[in-house]
Amino acid sequence: MERTKVIDLLKRTDYGSNVTVKGWVRTRRGSKAVNFIAINDGSTIKNIQVVVDVEKFDENILKDITTGACISVEGVLTQSQGAEQSVEIQGTKIEILGPAGSDYPLQKKGHSMEFLREHANIRMRTNTFGAVFRIRHNMAMAIHTYFHNHGFFYLNTPLITASDCEGAGQMFQVTTLDLNNLPKNEEGKIDYSQDFFGNATNLTVSGQLEGELGATALGSIYTFGPTFRAENSNTPRHLAEFWMIEPEVAFLELNGLMELEEDFIKYCVQWALDNCKDDLEFLNKMIDKTLIQRLESVVKEEFVRLPYTEGIKILEEAIKNGKKFEFPVSWGCDLASEHERYLVEEHFKKPVIMIDYPKEIKSFYMKMNEDGKTVQGTDVLFPAIGEIIGGSIREENFEKLNARMDELKMRKDPYDWYMETRKWGSCPHGGFGLGFERLILFVTGMQNIRDVIPFPRTPKNAMF
Ligand code: 4AD
Ligand code: MG
Repeated sequence: MERTKVIDLLKRTDYGSNVTVKGWVRTRRGSKAVNFIAINDGSTIKNIQVVVDVEKFDENILKDITTGACISVEGVLTQSQGAEQSVEIQGTKIEILGPAGSDYPLQKKGHSMEFLREHANIRMRTNTFGAVFRIRHNMAMAIHTYFHNHGFFYLNTPLITASDCEGAGQMFQVTTLDLNNLPKNEEGKIDYSQDFFGNATNLTVSGQLEGELGATALGSIYTFGPTFRAENSNTPRHLAEFWMIEPEVAFLELNGLMELEEDFIKYCVQWALDNCKDDLEFLNKMIDKTLIQRLESVVKEEFVRLPYTEGIKILEEAIKNGKKFEFPVSWGCDLASEHERYLVEEHFKKPVIMIDYPKEIKSFYMKMNEDGKTVQGTDVLFPAIGEIIGGSIREENFEKLNARMDELKMRKDPYDWYMETRKWGSCPHGGFGLGFERLILFVTGMQNIRDVIPFPRTPKNAMF
């Protein structure tokens, strides 16, 4: 008989029907006469209970029904006597699809996140990780739906690239050259003309520059893809491989950019509240008791819009009044996560969009303000996370952009194609990048970014 998913079985009231359920045993308890088996198939955080009349079953089958085993159960849908569920299955036939053995690592007692990270091949079978990855899927759906409904086109930008968008030099090189026998040119440097692409290439740190080409043709685009950064950051907020969503919009100015950032992220959070109720309630109970309240408040609050210079004043004032930070604060410094979180969690108690950063701490492509010192960059700062979005209005003026690249002593030939957009029908435009895993961290209340991506890549770790 065709299997029915647990999520659908739990909604049914046609008691007496024959059904088949397939899934993994979470627990088995009971007496010599009657056993209760909780089965989960991943379709929902909830289990379905199978009631087994022990004497009707072969002992050899029953002995393999242990935590983690995969089984198929045929039985009769019944109204449950227990308080915890409305329906259960009176088992008539059980087949062991895959026994789990006594060394199955997940037992009923709770496991630490570290332990589960070491068993990442199996951790998706826990309640917590099931919830996280169902929510992750839902956030992807929210993102595509939002942009589709707002007339954005999904554009795939390359993962292998010859340019460095953020200019921070933390890229993974892509090569097919023999590392033990590198070809050299006359100057004694590596001869990349012999490499696969005929020049040096890297994994992308951002699809923005190519996204800008899309926006200045299709009007509004977004990318949503893997992004790679070889920075040696061992923090709960950094991955070497993460997913980024990057909308880019023609004819956009600073206020419009901030409105888009705020509207978009509220839509995603509201989607989670509307579509992930069971999983959120579980995480709220087990991981973070303030989770749902925090999600609800972000959707309601109007985000603060704060010029960097004002932000520095607030932080300096706080220090004067006795607040201790690990890193010093002065105009021109790059804010650390502790500073961002102070502004959001203690000072304003709501999300902050910080704007008008000193040009020195932002990328070459950001539009310069009239003061010649600050640029139209926007970082969206969130409670419990810090920076969740980084975006900007782009410098669309060829001379200004060219001068800024000279100032930064950038090599220009890898950007010829980018500069040409400033010569041929240039227009004001801007966009942002949302770190997908940072959004998932926020929405799930999980503490470590390694626990919201199925297979995390971090310095010295690329298992699977
Ligand atoms: O602020 P970032 O570096 O901005 C850009 O890359 C721009 N090109 C985006 C744009 O304007 N189109 O990165 C954007 C976001 C950050 O705010 C953060 O949420 C996330 O990407 N992010 C990371 N997430 C996980 N691990 C890392 N190592 C990350 N680095 C950035
Ligand atoms: Mg940033």
